[in-house]
Amino acid sequence: MAELLTEKYRPKTLDEIIGRDEQVAIVKDMIKKQGEVNHLFLYGPPGTGKTTFAKCVANEVFGGKFRGNYYEFNASSDRGIDKIREQITPLAKERGFGTSPYKIILMDEADCITPDAQASFRRVLEEYSKITRFIFTGNYPYKLIPALISRFTAIEFPALDWRIIAKRLWSINKTENLGIEQDKVKVIAKKCNGDLRRAINMLQGGGVEDGTENLANMSLDEISKLSDNEKVNLAFSGEPDRIFDVLWEKVKAEQAWDKIDAMANCNYKMNMSVHKDVFLSQLLKTAF
Ligand SMILES: Nc1ncnc2c1ncn2[C@@H]1O[C@H](COP(=O)(O)OP(=O)(O)OP(=O)(O)O)[C@@H](O)[C@H]1O
Ligand SMILES: [Mg+2]
Repeated sequence: MAELLTEKYRPKTLDEIIGRDEQVAIVKDMIKKQGEVNHLFLYGPPGTGKTTFAKCVANEVFGGKFRGNYYEFNASSDRGIDKIREQITPLAKERGFGTSPYKIILMDEADCITPDAQASFRRVLEEYSKITRFIFTGNYPYKLIPALISRFTAIEFPALDWRIIAKRLWSINKTENLGIEQDKVKVIAKKCNGDLRRAINMLQGGGVEDGTENLANMSLDEISKLSDNEKVNLAFSGEPDRIFDVLWEKVKAEQAWDKIDAMANCNYKMNMSVHKDVFLSQLLKTAF
């Protein structure tokens, strides 16, 4: 599969991040005044730079050499209390590597951590704070218990302004020679709801404004003949809920009941998540 442009254009330093001047200033100021960062909680809608920012903070703190002092966990898969006991707490207790006074642990998508595991985190955050700083990220701040949130400096990542997105898309479009017209770039920037990941994926998908129309005109057999790449692009090319509905209509019309389990599973996951398009791509790739 072709390289994902979202990864290729993921900023590596705080200065490369766009549209987040305030958030960058908060952290730089912290480092300047205190010589270190607090525990940080970065929250906001998808594709607005939270995970990227966390890595860039580690880069800023450790001057680019953070091996051994920076760890990442994805809390959507490591969400229970056992994981905290077995992996996170022992790691938090360890001293930083080399001369660094502390290490940084990223808990990505921390709003998925179960409430009892969150409660046990309170102690970890306090007891080892001299040698371990945590960065939590999440889409839904209200899913974290207040006693936990109060131990962090919370920084909001609102949806990005469409003009900032358009500028980024235009520059990627030029560097990559994608040849997408200016008007189309503008449409994508406005349609992505402030989600730059989604916007870049749409750009990579050829600037298809809305794939729902294309999908509606295809039979299940034709869909199954698309390449994985085309299926993924399709999933990212419009409103995920509408694309799902169109697929469901086809399954019903063609009585393709062998797909019903996969569709139900996808529907469930889509309702639970803001990353609807990810589950939709998985559905298209595996069941169609
Ligand atoms: N502020 C930004 N500046 C530059 N690139 C960005 C920014 N925000 C997002 N991106 C682009 O979008 C991609 C996804 O960003 P990132 O993973 O940081 O989003 P996120 O806020 O963590 O999303 P999620 O809530 O879905 O985890 C990045 O790899 C990068 O290409
Ligand atoms: Mg993220």
